[in-house]
Amino acid sequence: MGAIIETKELTHLYSQGTPFEHTALHAVDFSADPGEYVAVIGRTGSGKSTLIQHLNGLLKPTSGQVLFDGTDIWESKERTRQVRCQVGLVFQYPEYQLFEETVYQDIAFGPKNMGLDKDEIDRRVKQSARFVGLEPVVLEKSPFDLSGGQKRRVAIAGVIAMEPQVLVLDEPTAGLDPSGSARILDNIRTYHQEKNACIILVSHSMEEVAREAERLVVIHKGTIPFSGSPAEVFTHGDELEAMGLGVPAMTRVFARLRSMGVDVPASVYTIPQAREAVLAALHRGPHKAGLWLCGERKKEPADMEFSAPLAENGMEQAASDEKGGT
Ligand SMILES: Nc1ncnc2c1ncn2[C@@H]1O[C@H](COP(=O)(O)OP(=O)(O)O)[C@@H](O)[C@H]1O
Ligand SMILES: [Mg+2]
Repeated sequence: MGAIIETKELTHLYSQGTPFEHTALHAVDFSADPGEYVAVIGRTGSGKSTLIQHLNGLLKPTSGQVLFDGTDIWESKERTRQVRCQVGLVFQYPEYQLFEETVYQDIAFGPKNMGLDKDEIDRRVKQSARFVGLEPVVLEKSPFDLSGGQKRRVAIAGVIAMEPQVLVLDEPTAGLDPSGSARILDNIRTYHQEKNACIILVSHSMEEVAREAERLVVIHKGTIPFSGSPAEVFTHGDELEAMGLGVPAMTRVFARLRSMGVDVPASVYTIPQAREAVLAALHRGPHKAGLWLCGERKKEPADMEFSAPLAENGMEQAASDEKGGT
C-alpha cells in the first residue's frame, strides 16, 4: 500500500532573497501510510511546524513536492482545496483561533466550508463534540467562557468534524496539566482506532511519543536524521542526546542495567514494558538474569529474596508517581 501523504525533497526557505533568509527544511523526504500513527519529534526550532504546514498546503514548497494519495497537492487549485479537507491540521495553541459566537458555530465552521448540508453539519458537530467529551450544553456557550482544556477540545472537534483521513496535530498537549494531556491523547487514539485515520502527532516529549505512536520521525535542523519504531529510534541514544532530545527515563534505566550485565531487553521505553521485562527476568531466576547485581553485592545470589508481587508493587508505585508527576 502506498503512502497517503508524502513529501519529496521538500525544501522551505523563509524570507527568501532577503538578509533574513533562513532554510527551515532541507530536501526532506517524509511519508505516512493510511491508518498509521506517526510522531514527528524534534526540539524547538527544528522545523516541525514548517513541515506539517506543508502537509495541507498552508505553506508552498520553495522546492520539492507534497503528494496526497500519490498526486501533487499543488497540481490545481481544486486539488489544494480538496486536500485541505482531507488533511486536518490542528495548530499549536488552537484555542487562540476560536472566533465564533458559540461553540456550535466554531465546530461547524469547517464542515460548512466543505459545502455540506445543514443536517450533515449538525450530525458532525454533535458527533465530534461527543468524541472530545464536550457536553451538549457547552455547544451553546461562547468559546471564550470555557477553560483552557475545553477550548482546545473545541478546536480539535472543529477539525475532526471535517472527518479528515489524515489528522495532524501540532503539540496538542502543550501547556496542559497531566490529566488534560491524557484526555487529549485518549481522544486522538480513539479517532485513530475508530476511523482508521492516519495520525501525525508533533511533540517534543519522548515519553509521550513512545507511548502513543507506532513510528517516530526525528527532525533536526530541518532534516530527518532517522526514523523507525520507538525501539529502533532509541538505539540512537547518544545522537538523540546530542540533539537535545534524550531517550525516555525507562530506556535509560534499562540501558544502565544492561551495562551492569543484567539480562534485560534493550527495547524498553514505557513503565508497562519495564514491568514486563523485570517480571520476565525474575521468572527466569534472579541469578540467571544477573539481577543480584542490583542488590547488595555482599550477599550471595541464593540469599537474595526477590518476589514477583513485591516487584510488581514497586513498578506500580513508579507508574503512579510518573502519572502524578510531569
Ligand atoms: N514565519 C517565519 N519566518 C522566518 N523564520 C521562521 C518562521 N517560522 C519559523 N521560522 C524559523 O524556521 C525554523 C523552524 O521553525 P519551526 O518549523 O516553527 O520549528 P518547530 O515547530 O520545530 O519549533 C526556526 O529556526 C524558526 O525560527
Ligand atoms: Mg512548532
